Amino acid sequence: MSTLTPVKTKQPLIVRTISELRSELSIRRQEKPGLETGFVPTMGYLHDGHGSLIQRSAAENGLTVLSIFVNPLQFGPNEDLDRYPRDEERDLKLARQEGADIVFIPSVQEMYPKRALTRVLVSEVTESLCGASRPGHFDGVGTVVSKLFHLVEPTRAYFGLKDAQQVAVVQQMVDDLNFNVQIVPCPTLREADGLALSSRNVYLSPEQRSEALVLYRTLQQAAQWAADSEMTAGGLEAKVREAISRSPLASIDYAELRRYPSLEAVDPQLRLEEALKQSPLLLAFAVRFGGTRLIDNAIFPIKGA
Ligand code: PAJ
Repeated sequence: MSTLTPVKTKQPLIVRTISELRSELSIRRQEKPGLETGFVPTMGYLHDGHGSLIQRSAAENGLTVLSIFVNPLQFGPNEDLDRYPRDEERDLKLARQEGADIVFIPSVQEMYPKRALTRVLVSEVTESLCGASRPGHFDGVGTVVSKLFHLVEPTRAYFGLKDAQQVAVVQQMVDDLNFNVQIVPCPTLREADGLALSSRNVYLSPEQRSEALVLYRTLQQAAQWAADSEMTAGGLEAKVREAISRSPLASIDYAELRRYPSLEAVDPQLRLEEALKQSPLLLAFAVRFGGTRLIDNAIFPIKGA
């Protein structure tokens, strides 16, 4: 990706075991007391969205750790765990270009060597949107992110707002459990035509790919509709659903407006202008194109990114 910061060409160190990771981190921290660690957890098949998180971490920390782990715990029984795309060689190239120093690539056996009986369950913020349509998903995310935080002990951890609910869940978990890490929410990177970058975009047929643009178009329209001082929360939701439904290949999983980051429901009768006096609002949707489920969102009022 294009960058204004110097591109690191140093090969990152690849570690596959927890003991290697811990000893490498402890050596580097002994060598440089006060060394700040940025952490970017991913499931691999990296694209420039992930790249932007790595790049930001590299700019803000002395050490950047990237993890690549397709976490079985966060996939439901009928989801795409088995066909989740993987390309380690390409991932390592991007990791190097964007400035990762250590890439942690554990196996499932390494992360879950025996049947784990402990889960990190966050309530309320996990109960709507993706949490409602993917039961157990955020239990898997909370659990693996906790484990990774314990292993890496980062100063800062970088998460994309493409998964805005995930950011809210992780922040809640960090606050509730006193993790000593700063969560850094990062803007969504998009293709030139507006489609949010996602590892799952490779599943789309050319026809689905072009239809999927309805998501970004609807977000842009929603920003205009939201500027209407008479627009209510329920009115905006209805217009958004109608706009997406016009696309014949799109099937809406959810399309909702909620308070952010609490994810509480908004009274549908409330005018947006009034609702926004109490908290920012998240307009989020998950839409299926054939077997591929894509998510996208916008937070109002829209900030710089
Ligand atoms: P994954 O889907 O690989 O995403 C890793 C990180 O990249 C997440 O923080 C996600 O929000 C961010 N990201 C994805 N697409 C992006 C885009 N277009 N622009 C900016 N950032 C983007 O999210 C996960 O993995 C997992 O749930 C994980 C946190 C690693 C736990 O297993």
